[in-house]
Amino acid sequence: MCGIIGYSGQRDVAPLLIAGLKRMEYRGYDSAGIAVNNKDLRVVKDAGKVSNLEQLVRGASVKGNCGIGHTRWATHGAPNQTNAHPHTDEEQTIALAHNGIIENYSSLRHELGRTGHRFVTDTDTEVIAHLIEEFYEGDLPRAVLKALRVVRGTYGLAIVSKHHPGMVVAARLGSPMVIGHGHGENFLASDPAAFLSMTRDVTYLEDGEIAVLTPERVEYRTLSDEPIDKKLEQITYDIAAIEKGGFAHFMLKEICEQPQTVADSMRGRLLPEEGAVKFGGMATAREILSDAKRVVFLGCGTSWHAGLVGEYLFEELAGIPCEVEYSSEFRYRSPILEPGTAVFAISQSGETADTLAAVREARRHGAPVFGVCNVVGSTIARETDAGVYIHAGPEIGVASTKAFTSQITVLFMLALQMGRSRRVGAGRGRELVQHLKDIPQKISRILATRERVETIAHHYRDSRNFLYLGRGLNFPVALEGALKLKEISYVHAEGYPAAEMKHGPIALIDRDMPVVFIATRDGTYEKVVSNIEEVRARGGRVLAIATEGDTEIQSRVDEVVYVPETDPLLTPLLTVVPLQLLAYYMAVHRGCDVDQPRNLAKSVTVE
Ligand code: AGP
Repeated sequence: MCGIIGYSGQRDVAPLLIAGLKRMEYRGYDSAGIAVNNKDLRVVKDAGKVSNLEQLVRGASVKGNCGIGHTRWATHGAPNQTNAHPHTDEEQTIALAHNGIIENYSSLRHELGRTGHRFVTDTDTEVIAHLIEEFYEGDLPRAVLKALRVVRGTYGLAIVSKHHPGMVVAARLGSPMVIGHGHGENFLASDPAAFLSMTRDVTYLEDGEIAVLTPERVEYRTLSDEPIDKKLEQITYDIAAIEKGGFAHFMLKEICEQPQTVADSMRGRLLPEEGAVKFGGMATAREILSDAKRVVFLGCGTSWHAGLVGEYLFEELAGIPCEVEYSSEFRYRSPILEPGTAVFAISQSGETADTLAAVREARRHGAPVFGVCNVVGSTIARETDAGVYIHAGPEIGVASTKAFTSQITVLFMLALQMGRSRRVGAGRGRELVQHLKDIPQKISRILATRERVETIAHHYRDSRNFLYLGRGLNFPVALEGALKLKEISYVHAEGYPAAEMKHGPIALIDRDMPVVFIATRDGTYEKVVSNIEEVRARGGRVLAIATEGDTEIQSRVDEVVYVPETDPLLTPLLTVVPLQLLAYYMAVHRGCDVDQPRNLAKSVTVE
């Protein structure tokens, strides 16, 4: 969601802030701004891209060594210059940038208005600047703490004051905030990518904590003003990992990274001789999982689709009943989590507000919660009892691709681990581990045919509606393929269990509604072929994702994209790849903003 960066040190801060905001553009935004705290407080901000802000900053010749920057994804108030962050108090003595939502902002505005405060924006954030001004008696951190005790909602905050040159105060509750430690300089950001080229030494603010940065030191306090210490950690991934690496878009880069990222997800975790797997971070959780009587998966969007695949895998390998819940639905129901229920929270960003809230709800019910996350140190990863990082590396494209296959890889290994302690023998285990080890090179073989998918996308580029159909483990893949197409090419697509087509959607079939079938050789193949015939009999056009060597299907469909044979339990890792590519090339042919599709954000940290 919103991107925040802050700095205090010796460098010329304006270009540093701009460069940091550029590193966070992928998070999706609609306006940007900076505040430089020199002898005076200078704020430059506007709607539009960071490149637009950069021109404004150059023209304003803003000089200083301390400041904050922000890219805003509008939640309250239109994306315009007035509502762009940073926001200030009336006298422009305080400037701040905010990521999150202040839920009681209207009552606070009313209260402050009664004491003479005048507001100039439509945002919730502005109220925090006025509160700090109200409580300020010469000590900025203390005024911040007083203000934060009266707000309700979520925040990642960066605050500067002209009365405190060289100081930046950071605060977090529900939105990520990372502190970067340099020599004679310190940084803060909602995403370490913003300062990674300058330091890898970081600490993570927890909810209810603030940090006070000056060039020489960083102090931490709780909301009750108790001083605390934080452990220094090292970021291991490289800046190159968040660059495009020669690809036209991050999304294509990340689709093509999947042989490597799927391999990374299993690295050090396979025990081929035993036909088993091992996880470092789950040792303590192992007993809980081996005794579990039920599993609940929580997620949103693509992560929810991964949970649906997980449900099939856990039921098949571990013989344990599972449920998959939309995080946003789970958190507002009265979920029944009887003893023996294990909960898995699946989240690439580890910051999705609905999934974080669902995690807290599950823990409130006393259930053990395990994270399946990608971003190390993310809030969900740190709020679960234990978890498994999927090691897919930074996923920059808003449309999730490599995270999905890494989530499934981890869920497969978790299901195998539980299965081996229940009903999967060593022989079957060895077979599955070998099939899993072969997946990366099989994905590579699919990627080698991507020009074919581009040609197919060219044929269908003017279609306005698609149907995606699959059975069993490939039903969630059909949903995922439809979501990919929708979110980056803005073409409507619906995923459905193939058999369900007869119960309604078949009325939609005509030449203008291409149907994508996942028709790999498995136990339901014949049934899927019957469904294909039903579509063709009504003049529908069919694109099939089929198993290499299946020549028979060619006569029954308009187009075929082949994937290598593998164990049926692992087909989703292969069948999703052509669908990711189809969505990508459709979006490119339609001239869409592939990496930053309209209205979407990489991490939805608001409800
Ligand atoms: C997937 O392509 C979308 N960007 C979106 O549905 C995403 O999967 C969802 O917002 C969940 O994000 P998370 O995995 O970071 O929690």
